Amino acid sequence: MPAIAYVNGRYLPLRAASVNVEDRGYQFGDGIYEVLFVHRGRLVDAGLHLARLERSLEEIELHAPMSAAALHAVIGEVLRRNRIETGLVYLQITRGVARRDHPIPSPAPRPSLVITARRKPAPPARIEDWTAEAITQPDTRWGRCDIKSTNLLPNVLARTAAQRAGAYEAILYDSAGNVTEGAASTVWIVSAQGALVTRNLDRHILPGCTRAALLEALAAEGLTAEEREISLAELRAAREIFLTSATSFVKPVIRLDGAAIGNGAPGATASALFELYMHRLGAG
Ligand code: PDD
Repeated sequence: MPAIAYVNGRYLPLRAASVNVEDRGYQFGDGIYEVLFVHRGRLVDAGLHLARLERSLEEIELHAPMSAAALHAVIGEVLRRNRIETGLVYLQITRGVARRDHPIPSPAPRPSLVITARRKPAPPARIEDWTAEAITQPDTRWGRCDIKSTNLLPNVLARTAAQRAGAYEAILYDSAGNVTEGAASTVWIVSAQGALVTRNLDRHILPGCTRAALLEALAAEGLTAEEREISLAELRAAREIFLTSATSFVKPVIRLDGAAIGNGAPGATASALFELYMHRLGAG
């Protein structure tokens, strides 16, 4: 069965699915995207992802081609046509097709909407089978990382550096030597003093949906995390480091730049949050 993609109103075999070469997403990276995990037929944190999508679109003055409810229905249809119960959904909305010229075209072209999906293994049963290594890399991205834009060249280069170093993620740091986030994930630590910390939200990081879901789950247990800056020195001295994202769930970093973190195994806090998240997924 060929993979099916949704492209501007049509469901097409992936091989035959294409967009115009003058699409501004292709020429300028003028677009927004989302990645959602689907677990046993249920979209995880769909409300959070669709709300973030709406906000990203607003920030770049791009009008959604359909309502959130309609988008939800199309995602469901893509999953059904691909017979995917567990996997990921990729959704991209770009400015659309216009003769190449930098300013936003007026009148606005029809935005392009592409949705693809891919089967993925079920989430891991044990956190011990879900560990990662990370490296540190300078954050060379732009000043609006709160927008989930398809401009991902710095992320691509940082993740390539990580891969070449035998690691999974690149943890990015700004010019002041403070951690921003992973190239495609949110960073959390348990500090040497035992505090659970993740970086505060501003224009320099993406407001992670998994981050928001975990903060909410923590609050429901009467627990909190500190939301503040994390220096590279604090990161290196941390008892635990872990990453979160729609597709990495809660992923412990057991080595950073080749040095063991804690005792080189998933820590108690990462393990507890992993269980909490798996429970939320309905996988626990
Ligand atoms: N990445 N920060 C960045 C830069 C990201 O790209 C992502 C997600 C996150 C975590 O966000 P969330 O918890 O909403 O997935 C943080 C996705 C998975 C990707 O680009 O593939």
